[in-house]
Amino acid sequence: MRQDEKLLLVMGAFGAPMGPRHLPPPPAARFGSAGYVPGIARLGIPPQWQTDGGIGVATQAHAGHVPGRTALPAGIATAATWNPQTAYHAGAMIGREARASGFDVMLAGGLNLARDPRGGRTFEYAGEDPLLAGTMVGAEIAGIQSNHIIATVKHYALNDQEAGRMTLSAQISHASARASDLLAFEVAIERGDPGAVMCAYNRVNGVYACQNDWLLTHVLKQGWHYPYYVMSDWGAVHATVRAANAGLDQESAAAAFDQKLYFGAPLAQAIADGRVPQARLDDMVRRILLALFAKGVVDHPIELAPLDLAADAAISRTDAEQSMVLLKNAGGILPLVRGAARIAVIGGRADLGVLSGGGSSQVYPPGGSAVPGLGPVGFPGPMVYDRSPPLAAIATRLPHSRVAYADGRDPAAAAALAAHNDIAIVFATAWSAESLDHDLTLPDQQDALIARVAAANPRTIVVLETGFPVLMPWVDQVAAVLEAWYPGSAGGEAIARVLLGEVDPAGRLPITFPASLAQLPVTDSPTHLSVDYAQGAALGYKWFDRTGQRPLFPFGFGLSYGHVSYAGLAATVTADRAVVSFSVHNDSARSIADVPQLYLAAANFGDGVPQRLVGWQALSLPPGARRTVRLQIDPRLLANWNPTEGAWTITAGRYSLRLGTSSRAIAARLPLTLTARTLTRP
Ligand code: BGC
Repeated sequence: MRQDEKLLLVMGAFGAPMGPRHLPPPPAARFGSAGYVPGIARLGIPPQWQTDGGIGVATQAHAGHVPGRTALPAGIATAATWNPQTAYHAGAMIGREARASGFDVMLAGGLNLARDPRGGRTFEYAGEDPLLAGTMVGAEIAGIQSNHIIATVKHYALNDQEAGRMTLSAQISHASARASDLLAFEVAIERGDPGAVMCAYNRVNGVYACQNDWLLTHVLKQGWHYPYYVMSDWGAVHATVRAANAGLDQESAAAAFDQKLYFGAPLAQAIADGRVPQARLDDMVRRILLALFAKGVVDHPIELAPLDLAADAAISRTDAEQSMVLLKNAGGILPLVRGAARIAVIGGRADLGVLSGGGSSQVYPPGGSAVPGLGPVGFPGPMVYDRSPPLAAIATRLPHSRVAYADGRDPAAAAALAAHNDIAIVFATAWSAESLDHDLTLPDQQDALIARVAAANPRTIVVLETGFPVLMPWVDQVAAVLEAWYPGSAGGEAIARVLLGEVDPAGRLPITFPASLAQLPVTDSPTHLSVDYAQGAALGYKWFDRTGQRPLFPFGFGLSYGHVSYAGLAATVTADRAVVSFSVHNDSARSIADVPQLYLAAANFGDGVPQRLVGWQALSLPPGARRTVRLQIDPRLLANWNPTEGAWTITAGRYSLRLGTSSRAIAARLPLTLTARTLTRP
């Protein structure tokens, strides 16, 4: 390759006529897309056509005519399935749509840990546990890449909140980072083998993530032997020499987003001056080419093809159904009984569609939003509703019931409607979007609406369409609560099927729902220049366990319409592996879903973490069925990261295995004795 060809491959352009500089995109870019890197026809190297994102083929807002694509439920919803196969199939579907839409690089795989549930991109990510997030996102990446395209994992690393996202320095010890956020990336990379890693906007311990030698070279490339390339987030590069020498391999959307060009001519000059070794440019190019070849992009050229939107919606619906978490079901009010009741459906635009999260990951439904014209006008707007109205999906399934609707804007009218019906179902929504943190209160006085409806009719069911935990001051007044997240293209159908019991609510919380803001490890700094993650690896349920607080709903929680019991918890521990087995019995007369969870408790885990999730299995059980589950524990979860040795070390001592239906509902315990050991990397 010639030097100019090498330099071409390491710098991308933005694919939409927007961004901070409103530059026209290169003509060869796919219209309204996230990015484009030219190919080299002479050598048979294809262009890199990049699309967001995690829930489907996204389009940059205001790109003009927006093609309709299938949206999965939000990332946090797919994580709530706890089912890697579901995530794989979901990924395979959006990867297929990406390829058919002309893209060979999908900017998916968001998995920054929910250190604070108020983080604006909590909906895009996969919750608060490194093993769960890494496993689920890794599976989705593998599914996307089964289409011979590249997927990213992002945003590496510690991009856990939006406040000050372009400048913020996440302060954390190496040992804590390795056992939390970095472990999530390590697991996702092992499971998904993504062709690219996107480095983050923020700084880590003072150094920008995209020029952070410790993150990019020491941990990722040397520690984990990552063979492919690191691309920057859009506008995340701040230097030529420091970034190149720290391990950045490709500057994304350079002219449109970065303060100035850092790769291209300045990189050529730095190489000519000897400030960046030629070998570093060769390494960048080799890594990009390796990904293009290894993932099949070169051997399987992109061809535009029609989308099978109906088939793809069915895949999205399955994901959504399995993601829904039944949080409360007093007196077994759910599932709704066919033929019986008069039902009032209230609020949440349930007559039109279901809410989605905003920002670069926004997927537009065919025909546009079900509720057009909603703000914000600029990024990260607009607020988009998918065209799958729950009202119609419920009414169709209850032909002998009278189903009435009130939009909820007039609480008195909504309460009157509820009073005159047997059951009230209130849909409550909370939008969230990239670049904006939020609080945990339902907006637009929806708390008051729910309280008023519940006062008029105690048989009130609340369906939440949120991308993050919300506070529920009304929880004791209502009969049932279903967390439906942002449920995607077929979300209304999925909600109706769960409410009617056509499927069991299979989702379990991948994130703790706090009872109040006071329970959180508040870390916001008013200047947004630095955030001290002093809780280290003790985030989410680990924080609640360490501080002995009772959340509103704990990590791992979710009800079924049936009942299970567990028996026979046993473990075999040898020098290099721990295998656990137990049996699960469906005690009920209906088919149900269950997610038995295994936690390991110890006194010597770093950052005072009392227990860690070490395994689980998403099960679907016919009536009366019994299944034996065998789980092998990842030895890193028995260990602490030892920065002096640069390795995971297991401390000798007594540990306790816990089998349960959530992090707080433990059905069986088993003592384990482990001997001291340093893990070696395979
Ligand atoms: C986001 C990335 C996204 C990129 C391209 C950035 O603002 O942080 O997640 O992939 O834009 O749209």
